[in-house]
Amino acid sequence: MTWMRWAPAMERALYDPGQGFYRRPEGPAGHFRTSVHASPRFARAVARLLLEVDEALGRPEELALVDMGAGRGELLTGVLAELPAEVLARLRPYGVEVADRPAGLPSTALWTDRPPRGVTGLLFANEWLDNVPLDAGEVDEDGVLRYV
Ligand SMILES: C[S@@+](CC[C@H](N)C(=O)[O-])C[C@H]1O[C@@H](n2cnc3c(N)ncnc32)[C@H](O)[C@@H]1O
Repeated sequence: MTWMRWAPAMERALYDPGQGFYRRPEGPAGHFRTSVHASPRFARAVARLLLEVDEALGRPEELALVDMGAGRGELLTGVLAELPAEVLARLRPYGVEVADRPAGLPSTALWTDRPPRGVTGLLFANEWLDNVPLDAGEVDEDGVLRYV
């Protein structure tokens, strides 16, 4: 059996406004690569998915693209570069991030630390949930809870 609980020490290590790892100026890409950084094909695929969602929603007047845990906005920037003008005109791109708004993000993109409410569109999260600070433990063969 595995158990998990919210971990304030981990929260500070990752997100403390002064020294948290994810607040550092170089951003996550300064330390590791996700599929967002690996190839422009990823942004292209997300743009295609967004177009399918747009179609399925009947091309709403305002179409949201919410990138949850947006890093330094690399995916948003890449997706925006792939969309046709007609969709861009209706698009509300949101980067939801603990870290500050990065320089160079397209001016149409909104940057916020909370997901927007009441929007219609696509919420996308790449490598976000594995960054939610939790302590993990397991029960050993003798039934004793062990911190992992
Ligand atoms: C592993 S990085 C992934 C960044 C980007 N999505 C990518 O795939 O390259 C996880 C990001 O999630 C952000 N994050 C973690 N918890 C968050 C929260 N509760 N709200 C907003 N952003 C969060 C971190 O600051 C970090 O930039």
